[in-house]
Amino acid sequence: MAEEFDLVVVGGGPGGYAAALYASGAGMSVALVEKDKVGGTCLHRGCIPAKHYLETASVFRTVSGAKEFGVQADQPLLDLGISRARKQKVVDQLWKGLQGLMKRRKIKTFVGTGRLGADHVVTVDDEAGTQLHGRHVVLATGSVPRTIPGFEPDGSKILTSDHVLELDTLPASAAVIGGGAIGCEFASMLSDLGCDVTLLEALPKLLPGCDADVVDVVVKSFKRRGMTVRTGVTVEGQEQSNGQVTVRLADGESVTVDTVVVSVGRRPLTDGLGLEDTKVEVDEKGFITVDNHQRTAEDGVYAVGDVVATPQLAHVGFAEAIVAVRDMLGEALEPVDYGKVPWCIYCHPEVAFAGMTEQAARDAGHDVTVSKHSFNANSRALIIGEAEGLVKVIAEKRPDGKAGPILGVHMVGPWVTEQLGEGWLSLNWEATPDDMGQLIHPHPTLSETFGETVLTLTGRGLHG
Ligand code: NAI
Repeated sequence: MAEEFDLVVVGGGPGGYAAALYASGAGMSVALVEKDKVGGTCLHRGCIPAKHYLETASVFRTVSGAKEFGVQADQPLLDLGISRARKQKVVDQLWKGLQGLMKRRKIKTFVGTGRLGADHVVTVDDEAGTQLHGRHVVLATGSVPRTIPGFEPDGSKILTSDHVLELDTLPASAAVIGGGAIGCEFASMLSDLGCDVTLLEALPKLLPGCDADVVDVVVKSFKRRGMTVRTGVTVEGQEQSNGQVTVRLADGESVTVDTVVVSVGRRPLTDGLGLEDTKVEVDEKGFITVDNHQRTAEDGVYAVGDVVATPQLAHVGFAEAIVAVRDMLGEALEPVDYGKVPWCIYCHPEVAFAGMTEQAARDAGHDVTVSKHSFNANSRALIIGEAEGLVKVIAEKRPDGKAGPILGVHMVGPWVTEQLGEGWLSLNWEATPDDMGQLIHPHPTLSETFGETVLTLTGRGLHG
């Protein structure tokens, strides 16, 4: 006999646990099935551990550059084992907090793989063969790294991001295949810690989806710091000998390294989820098909997070979970506006943006006005020694030539992941440069560069 719940969630990552928490907050009884640990990829194999290692790289850089400030410090030495232990401490603390929160909210957690059958019944592959019935079901089974033929990960020479996060020693050299968010973050981190990195990207530019001016800053910085960046290259295969891997490229060249990191995207994970006895549909790439209320084709069954074909970001999973639960409750809701989602990439220099790139805005037929300001002219950026980067704001150009609503905010440089706040707020509030330009930015702060960029779009900038 199946245990009854208002909601059964399958998958305990950001999408799944957000659905469970939001539903319990609304008074629903909730069960959550998770085969591993609540927190999912983001907490255990993604955002959190990756950012920890990027912070390790940042500390390393700071100590290396201390002499410039008159602070005499020896050249730092990395002990990756200690950094890994610290990573685990941070992850475990967050994991403990999340488990406690779920318990306090009386969410019943079941460990095992959940399989959705007919009539909203989820069977858990635990010893008891637990059966759960939900008035509603949320599928939030996430994603796993995609691989490429001939580069099957073995955890030793061919790694995915999952493996890199568990390394005890730094490889002397690495080829990172794929220059998207994961590729750039890992290449940046490995390079800063002393690994000789070659970054291989199939498309003509790194970081697809980012504004071209931003990508140029990242590439220049990567190269200046000793990384080899090759774009427009496809990998053909690899051979291993004497503990090294030789990656063959389609142009006849090759790269020989200690380790290969494959970061060519993530695929949705629906393996073992069942669905055959349901009306839930899956597209040709394996993503579960949903409408803008996160409803699948099966009445009462929703899908959120990386398992649907939307940006694979934890905060998108949170937003989709809230939409799904509000739909169950019959409440008014705003579907997620994917064009206004904030993106943050934590490589060095950091990248943060929301809204359209200049090219995308022009391609969409907008008449645009654009302003760019470099951190080079920002006092705080010079003080902290991080003046590489810029802020770029794109606004609609009105027929009278004045700037209309802001269409895109793009940042690259120091702490821009923390600075994007007013950028995505202005975009989501459909603010104009006139609205934003009258706001006071404290001096001296990095945020002044955004202030100056919007002020310039009003036609009267102060500096430059
Ligand atoms: P991605 O889709 O962002 O980038 C993959 C890159 O690999 C693309 O640039 C693609 O052109 C390239 N590529 C594909 N096949 C290739 C091949 N055979 N040879 C060379 N290049 C090839 O995927 P990524 O970086 O693995 O990240 C997965 C997901 O996780 C993405 O949706 C990403 O946005 C998200 N993520 C977000 C982060 C953030 O926001 N800070 C951090 C890490 C991941």
